[in-house]
Amino acid sequence: MSLKLRDDEKAMLAGDYGPARQKAMALLVRYAEALGVERFVDTTNVAGVPGSITPFLHQYYGAYGSDYNTIFSLFDLDADEVVEVPRVSGHSCMLQGGIDPENFEVLGKTAEALALDQAGEQGAAARDIEVLRTCTPYLVGNVPGRGEHCAWMESSAVVYCNSVLAGRTNTEGRESTSAAMLTGKIPDFGFHRDEYRFGTHLIKVETPVETILDWGMLGYFTGQCVGEKIPVLTGSIGKPQVILHKHFGAAAASSGGVEMYHMVGLTPEAATEEMAFGPGRPKEVFVYDAAARQRIYDDLNANGRSRDVDFVMLGCPHAALEQIEEACRLLDGRRLSENTQLWIFTSRVVRAQAQAKGYAQRIIAAGGHIITDTCSAIGQAIPPGTKVAALDSAKQVHYLPAIMNIEAWFGSTADCINAALTGRWQGELV
Ligand code: F3S
Repeated sequence: MSLKLRDDEKAMLAGDYGPARQKAMALLVRYAEALGVERFVDTTNVAGVPGSITPFLHQYYGAYGSDYNTIFSLFDLDADEVVEVPRVSGHSCMLQGGIDPENFEVLGKTAEALALDQAGEQGAAARDIEVLRTCTPYLVGNVPGRGEHCAWMESSAVVYCNSVLAGRTNTEGRESTSAAMLTGKIPDFGFHRDEYRFGTHLIKVETPVETILDWGMLGYFTGQCVGEKIPVLTGSIGKPQVILHKHFGAAAASSGGVEMYHMVGLTPEAATEEMAFGPGRPKEVFVYDAAARQRIYDDLNANGRSRDVDFVMLGCPHAALEQIEEACRLLDGRRLSENTQLWIFTSRVVRAQAQAKGYAQRIIAAGGHIITDTCSAIGQAIPPGTKVAALDSAKQVHYLPAIMNIEAWFGSTADCINAALTGRWQGELV
C-alpha cells in the first residue's frame, strides 16, 4: 500500500504553504509511510503540547536559543533548521504539562522553569492555539462532534473522545499533533476507520458499580483483561455520568492501553451488543464480580504500608467542579492535619468556577491547594519529605509510587479527605 497525496498535501510538501508547513507535512509523510497507510484525513480538532518549553528541552536546545520557533522547529517538527512557525490551520489546543504560575513554589519549581513554560505558552497563544492546560479538554469546552477526526495526545482524553463522544482519534504524540496543527492532516488509520472501532472482548459486570472508586476499579480491571483491545461492557453498569467515564477510561488506559470502549445501551456506537461488536464476536469474556472487585482493590493498595499519610492528591484526571464541591463538603470547614498536605489538581477554567462559587477559598482556608496545569505524576511534584500518599484515582496510584518512589493508598474521595484531616489512612472497601 503506498501513500497517495491529494493536491493540497502535495503543495504543502512542495513548500507552497511556507517552510513550517512543508516540514510538518514531511514529518507526517514519514509517519504515514512507517504506518503503511494510504491517505491522510482532514482533522479539525488537535490537542497537544505544541512548543512547550521545559528545563530539559532548554538544556538540550539552549545552544540554538530556546525561543518558540527554535523549540517548535527542532523538537516538534524534527527539522534541521529553524523556521518561522505560523498560525495554526484549525481548532487546536494546548493540554497539560505546564507549571501553575500561582503555585509554582508549592510545586517546588523555580522562577526560571516558570519563565520558560510561560514563553512556550505565549508562543502557542500567539499562533491561535487555545491554552487549556488540562488533561480534560472535554470538561472545558473542547467537545468533538460524532465522527469528527481529531488528533489528540493524553491517553485519558483519547479514550473519552473515542468512547463517550464518538470522536475519532488515535493516541498521538507531540510531534504528530504539532504537525497536524499546521497542516490539518493526520494519517488515516486505527480509530479513524470504522473497521477498527468494533468491540473485541466482552466484560460482564455482575456487581454494582456506582462511585468514582468503583468506576476506577472497573476500569483498572478492564485494562488488565483486554490490554490494548476494545472492551464491551454489559450488566450492572447503571448510567455513568461524565466524571465516572473520566475515571473509568483513565484507569483502563493505564492498566492496559485501552483507547476505546463500548457500554451497551450507553455509549454512542453501542446501542446494542451486536452494534458494538459489528461483524466480529467476542474473542474472550471476563466477569467482574465481588471477588474481582476485592482483588483489584488489593492490587491498587499493594504499595501502602505505613498508615501515616503525608500527602493527599485529588484530581486525576483533572477534577470537575462537582468533585471540588464534594471535597469542600467532606472537609466541612475543618483544618487539615498538621502532618498532611492536600493538593487538588484541575484546569484553569474549573478553578475559576471554583473560586466564583467560593469552593477554592474553603479548600485554601482548610490548608489545601487548588493547582492547575499539571499534576503530581506529570510534574513530578509532591510535597518535600512525602513518604506516603493517599489517592482516589486508579490511574495516579498506578504511576505515582513508581515515579516518585513513595508508598500510596487508594480509596474513595471520602477516605482521602479523612486522611487529609487526620493524617491517618483508614480506608477500606465497603
Ligand atoms: Fe491528568 Fe496527570 Fe492524571 S495529566 S490524567 S492528572 S496523570
